[in-house]
Amino acid sequence: MKKYLVIGNPIKHSLSPELHNHWILVNNLDSIYERKKIDKIDVGKLIFEIKNKNIHGINVTVPFKKIIIPYLDNLSLESQKTQSVNTIYLKDDKIVGHNTDINGFAFAIKNRKFNLSKKKILIIGAGGVVSSIIYALKKMNVFKIFISNRTKNKAEDLKDLFNDLNIVEWGEIPEFDMIINATSVGLNKDDKLDLDFSKIGKNKFFYDVIYNPRETNFLKMGKKYDNICENGKMMFIYQAAEAFKIWHGIEPKIDNKVIQLLNK
Ligand code: ATR
Repeated sequence: MKKYLVIGNPIKHSLSPELHNHWILVNNLDSIYERKKIDKIDVGKLIFEIKNKNIHGINVTVPFKKIIIPYLDNLSLESQKTQSVNTIYLKDDKIVGHNTDINGFAFAIKNRKFNLSKKKILIIGAGGVVSSIIYALKKMNVFKIFISNRTKNKAEDLKDLFNDLNIVEWGEIPEFDMIINATSVGLNKDDKLDLDFSKIGKNKFFYDVIYNPRETNFLKMGKKYDNICENGKMMFIYQAAEAFKIWHGIEPKIDNKVIQLLNK
């Protein structure tokens, strides 16, 4: 039996096992996917388990997407450009790190049929997933990307990877077509960003990377002011589907059953 893991800290909230084990079952594969809470000190040991073929693939989540890079033999172009790895596998006896968050986000936006070409985007937050979102947005030919983070220097650090980013002071809201909540604010139902969206107008696209809860206060606010709203569920499903394809060579089905699995 082949073994796959999602590693992070915390990891309790991750729904990756539900998703992957469902696809494993419907495709009749002799595999199992588990979640594992780890500390930084465990990273090297786990990578060794891949080399020894005791573990066949790993998904990586907060806070290890960047920390894990020095332990890998090869990085895909996408992982290099974003300095972020969420999918690991063995190829020709080398440990490879890849980033499926990029396509996860890109497919989710395409699925929503919102054309981002020449649009102005405002990203709130500068955590682990933001470099992937920026990379995907640039591939979609957006006009301008603004970023605002409570801790300004974390937004500035992203300029090392993407030098044409526009940093905005926390609390300032420039004019935008799409706004993305990439902070962890909203994971708890009562969480609220201390930002004022009352003057932004309507028909913008409010996107929240969070999918659980389904509707954060950020999305409620978007709805209240007549904007298009979308949560991070499809991004999560598409990033998992790409990892599944890499590991098992099978394109997993994304049907209503899969979507329902995540309605927790
Ligand atoms: P990491 O920073 O380890 O990658 P993350 O969950 O990916 O973790 O990112 C958390 C993001 O949510 C950060 O942008 C964080 O802002 P800081 O860099 O200032 O910490 C943001 N965040 C968390 N709590 C917040 C709050 N109460 N108000 C505004 N932003 C918050």
